[in-house]
Amino acid sequence: MAKDKTLLRVKGLVKHFYLNQGFFGGKTVLRAVNNVSFHINRGETLGLVGESGCGKTTLGRTVLRLYEPTAGSIFFNGLDITALTDGELLPLRKRMQLIFQDPYVSLNALMTVGDIIGEPLKIHKMARGKQRRELVMELLHKVGLSPDHINGYPHEFSGGQRQRIGIARALAVNPDFIVCDEPVSALDVSAQAQVVSLLEDLQQELGLAYLFIAHDLSIAGHISNRIGVMYLGRLVELAASDDLYRNPLHPYTRALLSAIPVPDPDTAAQKQRIILKGETPSPIDPPDGCGFRTRCRYVREACGASVPEMVELAPNHRVACHLAGKV
Ligand SMILES: Nc1ncnc2c1ncn2[C@@H]1O[C@H](COP(=O)(O)OP(=O)(O)OP(=O)(O)O)[C@@H](O)[C@H]1O
Ligand SMILES: [Mg+2]
Repeated sequence: MAKDKTLLRVKGLVKHFYLNQGFFGGKTVLRAVNNVSFHINRGETLGLVGESGCGKTTLGRTVLRLYEPTAGSIFFNGLDITALTDGELLPLRKRMQLIFQDPYVSLNALMTVGDIIGEPLKIHKMARGKQRRELVMELLHKVGLSPDHINGYPHEFSGGQRQRIGIARALAVNPDFIVCDEPVSALDVSAQAQVVSLLEDLQQELGLAYLFIAHDLSIAGHISNRIGVMYLGRLVELAASDDLYRNPLHPYTRALLSAIPVPDPDTAAQKQRIILKGETPSPIDPPDGCGFRTRCRYVREACGASVPEMVELAPNHRVACHLAGKV
């Protein structure tokens, strides 16, 4: 039987955090992720963009079952992993890995590079002793570092090199899916380009699928086959990257796109930057209806009546906006 090309499928995923409400008790609900559905194919990169606090990290971590989902379901490789116990999840953990935003804090400063990269091999009992050391040296080579670095400590490395160590650690267990949570945001521009190109090379070589989280569309657009745009815990648009660039349908996506600098001064003059008015509402007290309506320049009365559903307006191009296609 041919393998299904879908590696990950998420349906109606919800993640709420319940916050303590001070002295008199009671809980406040923070709706970090609301009814999100998407899939990722084997070997594919799905970009996930949206401003700070919109729920990208929470979504990435919930998909990996590092956070308990509040509702919805997660299928990995055809298996429903939504309610698996930690013990049942352990063998799957090898196949799903996470790369963190900040390589300055995500690596244990007291451990050698060899121990950091070798730790997952130890946890999953995949290699020990000399064999583990050899595997770590191979991994260092794979991410463009010298095998001699095995005895170094994180503080001896640049930001880009540290992120390579984080990537080697994720690769150690031979995953087929990696959540890359803003892996280059903390790096300078030249290191950003190098780490992105390393991730692309590794994807080609190893057939990896990525959920690539980023603030804006400039980096995510390059690496992603498709892009999902998030606003206030919801996916508001999902399309192939070039489709999203050419024909953004959600007013929020248009604002994000207008913020990308254009190198050509003629085009830059034509391009009008859309400045969003007001603040992002709090996920503790989101507006009724469309979450974006308080900042949308096209807002109409109908926008407050109900939450817009994701609708396929063009082939493989979904958008959640009451006015999509009309504005
Ligand atoms: N462990 C937690 N407990 C309570 N609230 C949380 C927790 N993690 C995240 N949140 C809240 O959930 C919302 C979404 O946060 P999240 O970190 O997922 O956003 P993000 O899109 O990754 O932001 P950024 O771009 O800044 O990384 C925010 O309001 C945040 O304060
Ligand atoms: Mg985040």
